Amino acid sequence: MKHYIDFHEDVGIEELDYLLDIAADMKAKTKAGIEHHYLNGKTLAMIFTKSSTRTRVSFEVGMYQLGGAALFLSSDDIQIGRGEPISDTAKVLSGMVDGIMIRTFAHQDVVDLAKYGSIPVINGLTDDQHPTQMLADLLTIKEQKGTLKGLKLAYIGDGNNVANSLLQACAKAGMDISVASPKSHTCPDKYVEQAKKDAAITGSKIVMTEDPYVAAKDADVLYADTWVSMGQEDEKAERIKIFKDYQINSDLMATADKDAIFLHCLPAYRGYEVTEDIIDGPRSFVFEEAENRLHAHKAILVNCFLNS
Ligand code: CP
Ligand code: NVA
Repeated sequence: MKHYIDFHEDVGIEELDYLLDIAADMKAKTKAGIEHHYLNGKTLAMIFTKSSTRTRVSFEVGMYQLGGAALFLSSDDIQIGRGEPISDTAKVLSGMVDGIMIRTFAHQDVVDLAKYGSIPVINGLTDDQHPTQMLADLLTIKEQKGTLKGLKLAYIGDGNNVANSLLQACAKAGMDISVASPKSHTCPDKYVEQAKKDAAITGSKIVMTEDPYVAAKDADVLYADTWVSMGQEDEKAERIKIFKDYQINSDLMATADKDAIFLHCLPAYRGYEVTEDIIDGPRSFVFEEAENRLHAHKAILVNCFLNS
């Protein structure tokens, strides 16, 4: 079964090139208006227990453009929200649809859906990881820089789901990555170790630091995410204090390579993790990055559905 749950486990180093090629092909076909109904008649169940704009729209539109259909299942409406076990949900959906995409809190719930079901499962974000975002990010970097290998990405801020997945993804792509976070909010060792393992194969470098200027030095990509992830709303005031020195602004941008680009998974909070002049400025490619979710997700869907 071809799942897409954990970038480190589910995406091989060579497979990454293949996925990026399919994503680029999907984008070219979409732009040229060429029909690409590779998933004719297939259905995707999309379970959301957290909010989403980009992930929901891109998977739903993606399935439609591939000739299939997607069902939006909010936890407010389906029985998971009233306590039906993940294992039963997995078995029921396996009898009716061809794949599941889920965005939720506990990563283990996604693993369990795959364990108890018999169809491909795609992780649309958990508290620990955000792997679908990664393929769109790498596609965007490749489009702007022409290559991935040998580039340096600097992630500034919370050692959260996006940061963990960036460690996994950059290491697979042969990109150097520096993560700057306060010691109290750095990425779990597990992700650093995984990245170092792949980096030893792809020849990239992994640096964990508390200093945003050390991370940003000569970087080709500066990357930000919110200081307050979904589920952490009660900690907002405290987090704003903790991360106040981890903002991407013109001073930090000046430390990076002169042709550095700015990326953000979005939604962004201007004046916190990034200043308005940077995110709305000429070096920002956040809306290209958001659009690339559509093309990247179609590559993930085709790979999971047709290779399972
Ligand atoms: N970046 C991202 O996953 O956006 P959504 O929360 O809108 O899906
Ligand atoms: N870290 C953010 C990413 C949103 C796409 C969150 O989990 O809310």
